[in-house]
Amino acid sequence: MSSANTYIYDKLRERSNLGLYRTLTTGRGLIDFCSNDYLGFARSEALKDLIRQEHDSQYPVLNGATGSRLISGNMAYTEAIEQHLAAYYGSQAGLLFNSGYDANLGLFSSLPQKGDTIICDELIHASIIDGARLSYANRYTFKHNDLDSLESKLKAAKGLIYVVIESVYSMDGDTPPIARILELTDRYGANLIVDEAHAVGLYPAGLVKYLNLENKIFARIITFGKALGCHGAIVLGKNPLREYLINFARSFIYTTALPFHSLVAIKMAHGLLQESTETITKLRENIKTYKQVIPQYDAYSESPIQCVILGSNSKAKQAAAALQQEGLDVRAILSPTVGLGTERIRICLHAFNTFGEIQQLSSALNKISNA
Ligand SMILES: Cc1ncc(COP(=O)(O)O)c(C=O)c1O
Repeated sequence: MSSANTYIYDKLRERSNLGLYRTLTTGRGLIDFCSNDYLGFARSEALKDLIRQEHDSQYPVLNGATGSRLISGNMAYTEAIEQHLAAYYGSQAGLLFNSGYDANLGLFSSLPQKGDTIICDELIHASIIDGARLSYANRYTFKHNDLDSLESKLKAAKGLIYVVIESVYSMDGDTPPIARILELTDRYGANLIVDEAHAVGLYPAGLVKYLNLENKIFARIITFGKALGCHGAIVLGKNPLREYLINFARSFIYTTALPFHSLVAIKMAHGLLQESTETITKLRENIKTYKQVIPQYDAYSESPIQCVILGSNSKAKQAAAALQQEGLDVRAILSPTVGLGTERIRICLHAFNTFGEIQQLSSALNKISNA
């Protein structure tokens, strides 16, 4: 065997021995308590029809974008969507990326320079960590949602300072005190950046806009693969930021642009979102129901993401397997994806989950905690 193959084999065996081996699975027809399809848009027949109609009304339509935005992949349609979304989210400008991962990689690898400082909440998403790692800036983390910890890092920061938070954290589902964080970052002349991946949907245009803070935040990242049920992302900010990213963000420059059908899906999903007051209310009711029928756990969040901390990888895996046996698609989140000792099952609630399904989840969780 070549040394590369030996290396691969050894690493996979090591991962397997640690009980951390990842495998791909396909849908097993279980009740969905794990996807990010919070409003059911990914499965929505109404959205499928809207996309089909819009797609068929455009002519001529290309199957693929044919190149990067800077070469052949840009269309008037693309720019019109960016302007429309910027207005919808209350921003001066926006730039589309092929995914939230690409958006964060592009933004954080290109903007902060050597001598600058990026300060992230310790639970920040991997895409932001990866982007920051590609920059030459100093990097700090602060304790989750802890303003004292953030302030101590702000005091030590040099150069231009970027503070990064999520408005709904992807693994814990909780929300930071954005207004208070903003006060602090303003005091230190730092730029606040908010990733709204999991907030859009629960809040139609994200939490920042809901709090009327959109003019005070330096940049926001909105992703379309979660509540919007499609794919892609936009970085929102002022015009110069958009121009900067077009010039320096490598994950924007060196990749084929989103295909036309993705653009149509993004546009129509936002149209549907504006008419989804009832669906959002149903999601909020389901979050309330969850808290009522699952009373034994105290770490509730106000979002569709709920977690039951089990404290070890093996316990989390056992619990997820037991729930799957009961027909419920709940997944274990293991360390190192989450911190050691906080291994968990992550439960995602959706507008389409029925009361009966949440009750079923409750009795299955009861069985686990009594076992
Ligand atoms: C907070 C956060 N930001 C960004 C991303 C990446 O978005 P995408 O799935 O569109 O690449 C995710 C995805 O899980 C996320 O949870």
